[in-house]
Amino acid sequence: MLDQLIPSRRAFDGTDIIFALNAEAQKRAAAGESVVNATVGALLDDGGKLVVLETIMELWRGLTPPEVAPYAPIAGDPAYLKALVDRHWPGLGGQGVGCATPGGSGALTLSIRQFLEPGQALLTLAPYWGPYDTLAYENGVRVETLPYPEPAHMLDETRWRQKCEELMAAQGRLMLWLNDPCHNPTGRSSSAAGRKTVAAILRDLSKKGPVTLLLDLAYLDYTREPASVREALDDYRAFAEEESQREGGVLVGAALSLSKAFTLYGGRAGALVFPWCQDPALQAALAVSCRGIYSNCARAPQSLMVKLAKDEGAQARLAAEHERWSAVLEARAMALHHALKAHQLPGITWQGGFFVTLDAEDPRAVCERLKEEGVYVVPMPEGLRVGICGMKAEDAPRFAAAYKKAL
Ligand SMILES: Cc1ncc(COP(=O)(O)O)c(C=O)c1O
Repeated sequence: MLDQLIPSRRAFDGTDIIFALNAEAQKRAAAGESVVNATVGALLDDGGKLVVLETIMELWRGLTPPEVAPYAPIAGDPAYLKALVDRHWPGLGGQGVGCATPGGSGALTLSIRQFLEPGQALLTLAPYWGPYDTLAYENGVRVETLPYPEPAHMLDETRWRQKCEELMAAQGRLMLWLNDPCHNPTGRSSSAAGRKTVAAILRDLSKKGPVTLLLDLAYLDYTREPASVREALDDYRAFAEEESQREGGVLVGAALSLSKAFTLYGGRAGALVFPWCQDPALQAALAVSCRGIYSNCARAPQSLMVKLAKDEGAQARLAAEHERWSAVLEARAMALHHALKAHQLPGITWQGGFFVTLDAEDPRAVCERLKEEGVYVVPMPEGLRVGICGMKAEDAPRFAAAYKKAL
């Protein structure tokens, strides 16, 4: 152990469970075994190749040196922020307060730095995307959770109110990260009634101290219910507009990402935006944080977004590609659902995103037994994360049989 490494940084084991399982699955496949690898977090075609959206690559290839090489402004190109906000909430007419970030992860980090004091807790729903823990840890806060409602169940309002009030009493402020719609890893979305209840809880809570609702929007383009996604975004918009008119109202923002939406995972582009807020102090704080943590973000994806916003043909082609891949994900989800049902197991409800969650009393043990059948999934405290983004429909019967055996 290097003496130079400070004591508080010495206890990490350095292995990421998802990458480790994926590497193990790939090693077995490379050695000639037939393996079902549902650990991957990127969209793969049925041949196992990374899906790269052609419309985006065409735009990428057309970028000129001045659209790639210069520094972008510290807080991001305003035209980029406007175009990205407009993609989510068309016709808003302005981006409000916002800042370009390296992916949605960068936006999540910036939100912690602005809205929580070190040692405080952010609130989210469990199960959640594993890196939330690392993002919280690296930014000096911790994650507290409420359970993601079971399919067709309403959230437990009493429990929500109690938890929110406890956190508010303990720290005088609250930030909720809501990965909705198209939640990773359940593959589900909140109902309209659920959104209303959350809005009412947060509104009431904001009378006791500052409340921030951060929508973590990573998978919206991959859904079987585009109209419901639109409705959800419109509901959040209506809530944000109402709250922005009210003294001490809930601050609503979003962590946006081009990683999945544009298959630009390696482009590292996203933004933290507050389209209904005009507060110059927040804008300045974001710019300082961004300068201190990331400096300027990549110029090329920002230029690409601006070009896309001006090109209706490209927008239509991109929408068609999203539709096509959403249909592939739906077919995979349905195949898994029917295969599970064929074994008298509960099926799944998939509304959008790259994953579904399956029950397991002892997820790690089930995961180990699945490996014996050549099937790889990611164990979480609440169950198994199954990446339908990387598992073809034709593997569903084998997957379901192995899962039944492993339970
Ligand atoms: C729930 C969730 N939020 C945010 C992100 C952000 O990803 P990125 O930083 O690549 O934009 C991801 C990516 O997997 C995710 O699953």
